[in-house]
Amino acid sequence: MTTPASIARPAIDGGDPIRRDPMPARIQVDETELEAIDRVFRRRMTDGGAFDRYDGPEVDTYEQELAAYFGVKHVTCVSAGTAAIHAAIGALDLEPGSEVIVSSFTDPGSVMPLLFNGLIPVFAEHDYDTFLMSPEGVRAAVTPYTRAIIVAQIHGYVADMAAIGAIAREHNLTVIGDTSQAHGSTLNGSRSAPFGDIGAMSLMSGKHMVAGGQGGMVATNDEAIYWAAKRFADRGKPFGQAATTNTGIGLNYRMHEIEAAMGRVQLGKLESIMTRRRDVLAGIFAGIRDLETVRPVRALPGVEINPWSAMFYVDTERLTVDNRRFAEALVAEGIPASAGYRNAIVYGLQFWRERKTFGTSGWPFGFELLGRRTEWRDYHHPTVERIARTLVLIEVHESWTRREADQTAAAFRKLEAAYRR
Ligand SMILES: Cc1ncc(COP(=O)(O)O)c(C=O)c1O
Repeated sequence: MTTPASIARPAIDGGDPIRRDPMPARIQVDETELEAIDRVFRRRMTDGGAFDRYDGPEVDTYEQELAAYFGVKHVTCVSAGTAAIHAAIGALDLEPGSEVIVSSFTDPGSVMPLLFNGLIPVFAEHDYDTFLMSPEGVRAAVTPYTRAIIVAQIHGYVADMAAIGAIAREHNLTVIGDTSQAHGSTLNGSRSAPFGDIGAMSLMSGKHMVAGGQGGMVATNDEAIYWAAKRFADRGKPFGQAATTNTGIGLNYRMHEIEAAMGRVQLGKLESIMTRRRDVLAGIFAGIRDLETVRPVRALPGVEINPWSAMFYVDTERLTVDNRRFAEALVAEGIPASAGYRNAIVYGLQFWRERKTFGTSGWPFGFELLGRRTEWRDYHHPTVERIARTLVLIEVHESWTRREADQTAAAFRKLEAAYRR
């Protein structure tokens, strides 16, 4: 028989879990995506074309719809978020050896394209309260070689773009907003995709809205950057130019028609996905409001987040367990949790620690570029480390209901009661 004592004892310590049944699966698609793909497929069965973006209207239309939704003049769709970052950087045509300030917590796809263009990523310190890259961290990272900043808006949160933008203007830097994890989050009411000069967004299957399995887009109000990104994403074809042959180098990052057909349907669902995710988050927040050792990561004033994973800090000084054990205890209660987001600290990944780039060259580190010898750096940002020691992530999504939100809050309450000093 279940006794109050065994309910109160954390499941990881032998008590009964809050939830025994699996969490609801994230159902991303329904008949509407199927119909859209079917329409493209059937058209191709009679008109003889294939699925390349130049064979039909889907990618072009998707680009126009994305631009309208995000309130930006130009969008070019690409094959992945990593491709979007690469095309955005490629569009800037920076000299090898130039430095680009990047978020320390982000997906490697937000950083690795720099190395392919001979650029030096410089990892910025983060802000504890909002989790994201801090303006002070950006300022400290600026050198005479800095040319751009890539701000990753992680888990739906939005960084202090006004302050970062001011630093960028002072030093003539381009701001690239990586909104892969923040589809539809708003800043002062604006759902602008870039939150900067250029936006890069992943549309892969784990994100809020998806374009099939993979996908991405570059968004900008600057027409010259738009054409340059489009050229980079298709091997330097002379888009927007009078030339008749390829005018620069690039890769093939084209999105195809089936991806766009699905992406168009998903765009129409984004608002409802966002509302449902916000409801889940609000439910969890309401249920833990009076806790003393657990609190949500704070969004800046003026920011309305579209939650990806939900982020919480645990006050490990007032608990008898660290955040890893806390997350394991949540998992034992039936709540999908993890600690620290350490696999997203890019300067902590093996490739960075071992300076593994191209063969044994170390390129672009250790070369005479822009009149100085480029150096690889080891980073130990104290706030990034503190975040990693105290962060707990919960993998929420739009198929969750009030029940899952309440159970998550109940699990936090139970664990605070069990582990508070
Ligand atoms: C912040 C961020 N940037 C870039 C990427 C790379 O996107 P993709 O996986 O579509 O290449 C991702 C996700 O995967 C991401 O979360």
